[in-house]
Formats: sequence, structure tokens, C-alpha cells
Amino acid sequence: MTKTLLLLPGDGIGPEVSAVARRVAGRLINHGLPLTVEEAPFGGVSIDAHGVPLTDATLARALQADAVLMGAVGGPQWANQSYATRPEAGLLKLRSEMQVYANLRPARCFTALADASTLKRVYVEGLDILFVRELTGGVYFGEPRGVETLADGQRRGVNTHVYTSSEIRRVARVAFELARGRKHEVVSAEKANVMEAGLLWREEVQALRDAEYPDIKLSHMLADNMAMQLVKNPRQFDLILTDNLFGDILSDEAAMLTGSLGMLPSAAIGDAGRAGLYEPIHGSAPDIAGRGIANPCAAVLSLAMALRHSLGAPELAARVEAAVEAALDKGARTPDLGGTLSTVAMGDAILAGL
Ligand code: IPM
Ligand code: MG
Repeated sequence: MTKTLLLLPGDGIGPEVSAVARRVAGRLINHGLPLTVEEAPFGGVSIDAHGVPLTDATLARALQADAVLMGAVGGPQWANQSYATRPEAGLLKLRSEMQVYANLRPARCFTALADASTLKRVYVEGLDILFVRELTGGVYFGEPRGVETLADGQRRGVNTHVYTSSEIRRVARVAFELARGRKHEVVSAEKANVMEAGLLWREEVQALRDAEYPDIKLSHMLADNMAMQLVKNPRQFDLILTDNLFGDILSDEAAMLTGSLGMLPSAAIGDAGRAGLYEPIHGSAPDIAGRGIANPCAAVLSLAMALRHSLGAPELAARVEAAVEAALDKGARTPDLGGTLSTVAMGDAILAGL
């Protein structure tokens, strides 16, 4: 059965890197992969054309697709819009409507790039951490939220960090299942020392582990300590489970350890049978947009994650990943990695390895 991949190229360098992912998908299709690739407007370009970052039409197509591959959203020209019509609001709505509650963010240090990190090679070489970040709950979505003016004229801003036991357990289950394909180890991070919802997180994760995953070694770490441990001794971690906000922060920190933001893909998945949402973790990079020098590797590796988790083609996923690694081993580099290749030429090098 032919599956559908919906591309949302978005803003900034998004269209440039998405075009390379599209070429890679095209190559696989030519060799027999039953896949149709479509495109839809999303983010700032959608605000300009339709007044909102996520139109009902784009949302409907995302919900019908088997996988959605996003480029990037946002840019300075939309940064002063009211909160609800910013590109970021469209992304949060898309995650929420697609019910992709588990965000997989691998932070892997490619051997060929180990010297690009701000940490010494001895600490990061071989680094391979998988973050499982809760993506559709917590303070990003909790109510009440907003800013009000008090009687004395002060302003008061409110956001609510809230989780139910089922929201915690479903994402913890994803983490434990993935841990079975790795080192059978999970470290879960929260602030159980100051937050009730953090303590609930700890208790629910532990209860699920005790009831159904006795083969998994689970430990708990306070999120501030984890931030420190990630730069002190990052290779102690294999799989990290955490909430939406701590996951946002800690996964950026871990990404920088790999030295190459332009290399890192991500996947957001929900219950079996639902479409996944895939995106490079680099942003829209307005400073280099339109110059044809963006690194397309993260977009291509995000396509690989889509092949593995949503498109039923894990073997092709491994081939695409190997092609990226082979291109790097041969010295192919975009400027962010210290090289001189254009986005298109880097795509050529990946395709040559495929
Ligand atoms: C990320 C980004 C988003 C987030 C923004 C763009 C809404 O930082 O994917 O990590 O905070 O989740
Ligand atoms: Mg972030």
C-alpha cells in the first residue's frame, strides 16, 4: 500500500533542507518504495499567505498523512505577532492535534565530527543519547495561562505545569520500549524536590517500570543535576526520559555536546497507527537562509526516522543513515561543519553514498 509523506518546508532554511530530503525520498521511490510525497504551507509563510501559521487545510492533510516531515518555522519578521498567530503556536497546535506525545531526540556524536564539540573529544566521542521528551502536555499547554492586570496595577503572568498519570505513563512506556532496543537503562528527570507534579512524574514512571518493565534499570535524577552531569560526563546516559519543558532545555544542551546542531533529527510519535511528525532540531536559521549553505543532514536523518517509525521501512532508514555517515567519512562538509559544500552539493554526496 502506498504511504503518504507530507512535507512542511516552512521558513528560513526549511525549504532548502527539505528539498534535499525530498530528493533522497525520490531516489527511494525510484527504487521501489511505495510512497507519495506532498507539500503544504506551514509557519510564517502560511501567516503571510493565509493569516494563520496552521490552516485547517494543512492540518487535515497532516492528519491524513502517514508521516509529516517539517523543515523549520519562524523568523524575525513574525516575532512581534501576538502569541496566538506566531509560527511557534502553529507548531504547538500541530503537535497537539496529531497527538504526538513522545518526542525522540537522539544526540549522537559522529566520530568524524567529534572535534566540532565545545567539549573535549575524550568526553563526547561515541556519545549516543536518546531523549524521550513529553511533547503535548506540561507547562506548554497547561491551563490557566495568560497575563492579567491586578487591582494595584501590577501585571501577573501565569503558566501551569500539569500532568495526569496517564500522560506520564504513555510517554514512559515509549521510553521503556525503546530502552529494550538499547542498553535497557532509563534515567528520568524532574524536580521532585520542589514540584508536586514532578513527584507524581517520578512515582508514575517507577510504578510502570515495576509493573511491566522489570528488565529495565530505571534511575531518577533532578533536572538541574542532569544539566550539570550532561557537561561533566555525558556518556553516563543512554536514554533520558523527561517532561516537555525540561526536555526542551536539556535536549538543546545535549545537542551542543555533539558539536553539530545541523546534524540532529527528531521524531514525534503517538499511539500505534497514528502519523508521526519529524523535524530537524535546528531552527529556521534566518541568518543563512536563502544562501544555499544550510546543512541538510538533519533533514535527511529526520526522513530516516520517518522511514523507521511511520513508513514501515526500517532497512531503508538504516541505509539513509549510513549514506550520511559515509558522506561525512569522505570529508563532505557544509560550512557549519567547517567545510565549503553547498546544501545541494552535500545532498549530492549523500545520494552518492546511497
Ligand atoms: C523545540 C523548539 C520548540 C519548543 C519551539 C519552536 C516552540 O524549541 O522544538 O525544541 O519549544 O518545543
Ligand atoms: Mg527547543
